[in-house]
Amino acid sequence: MCKIEFYIVLIQLMLVNYIIAPTFYLFLSSNILLMKIRRNYCLKEHNTFNVEAVASVFVEFSIDDEFISYILSHFDKFKQIKHIVLGEGSNLLFTGDYYGMIIHPITKYISIKSENDSFCFIEAAAGVVWDDFIDWTIKNKAYGLENLSLIPGTVGASAVQNIGAYGAEVGDYIDSVKYVDLHTGKIVNIMANQCKFSYRNSIFKNELKDQVLILSVTYKLFKKSIINIEYADLKKYFSENHTITAEDLRQAVISIRNYKLPDPKTFGNAGSFFKNPVIDKVQFEILKDKFPDLRFYELANDYYKLAAGWLIDNCGLKGFEHKGAAVHENQALVLINKTGNASGRDVLELAKIVQMKINEKFQINLEPEVIIL
Ligand code: EPU
Repeated sequence: MCKIEFYIVLIQLMLVNYIIAPTFYLFLSSNILLMKIRRNYCLKEHNTFNVEAVASVFVEFSIDDEFISYILSHFDKFKQIKHIVLGEGSNLLFTGDYYGMIIHPITKYISIKSENDSFCFIEAAAGVVWDDFIDWTIKNKAYGLENLSLIPGTVGASAVQNIGAYGAEVGDYIDSVKYVDLHTGKIVNIMANQCKFSYRNSIFKNELKDQVLILSVTYKLFKKSIINIEYADLKKYFSENHTITAEDLRQAVISIRNYKLPDPKTFGNAGSFFKNPVIDKVQFEILKDKFPDLRFYELANDYYKLAAGWLIDNCGLKGFEHKGAAVHENQALVLINKTGNASGRDVLELAKIVQMKINEKFQINLEPEVIIL
């Protein structure tokens, strides 16, 4: 870090820690009973990479209105503070301390809003743990999300990230999203077709980045289960089975994920570290000629999505270690905190090495899927 950068960080730290945050903390502690506000709060338990980082201010709330009235009554002060919303911390990497406010909703309501002959509309609070929600939907005979079982994270994050796995993407099952606009304080309800869902992407990662706090997501789910086992791993799993229930499908996805992906409690990780890159037909044909085994999915309009795990694996990087971080042995797309002592920066250095090797061999830029802070 050069001298100027050092002084900028120092000034930021002093501003947040000694001027903005304490004023904030004072008025908060007098008003709020259930909401918890902590200063200089350790984030190790709040990120699935299990790296050390400290947040200047960490606000946790279980009732939406409490947090909303708190920011509205002190809106000018709130707007001066840098903030992010944190769910389970399962798709981000802290590469240093966070000089600002971390907003952590732990809201837990789930309710059936309406239903017709074919669908039911279920609203779930942003803080509900994603897999608990899927379990709830199946128990309440609302179907569609089974293929997304066991993805770590929360309901709120499901919409931001447009989570996907085993041939399903959550955007296809979202009806609407309710959020507070943190710039205006207004509560907004937007329909799925305004959310700009695409592969691991949404309006919340672009135009509305850092501007919204999602309060709840309403899903449009089927009343009759529709079993989607198109994905190769699932086809193989059910090869001899004729009647498959939604619960069977959920259990199959859970067992495949448990086999392929490391448990963050054993090795800190955030699932796939990179997105699968999308390339055009010209680049695809050159690569396919050179690497006939290339794993890919054909997309519309002559585009191709390559399996980044295969590219990394093909560079011989499975198991490759760097300062306590490593490329996972079973799924090369996952980077792990192998020793438990790697820092966020160590993981980031490993990611850069992987990107460099892939670029050298395939002339492809791997883009992180994980949010790097
Ligand atoms: N492959 C290898 N070596 C590896 C990893 C994969 O050769 O080390 C090959 C596999 O054999 C397969 C292909 O690459 O032919 C694709 O692998 P896989 O089916 O495991 O899926 P993926 O494309 O690597 C994506 C998602 C996962 C999701 C799976 C299943 C992304 C970035 N990742 O991985 O999502 O679980 O499909 O649908 O799209 C996540 O987002 O955190 C995540 C785990």
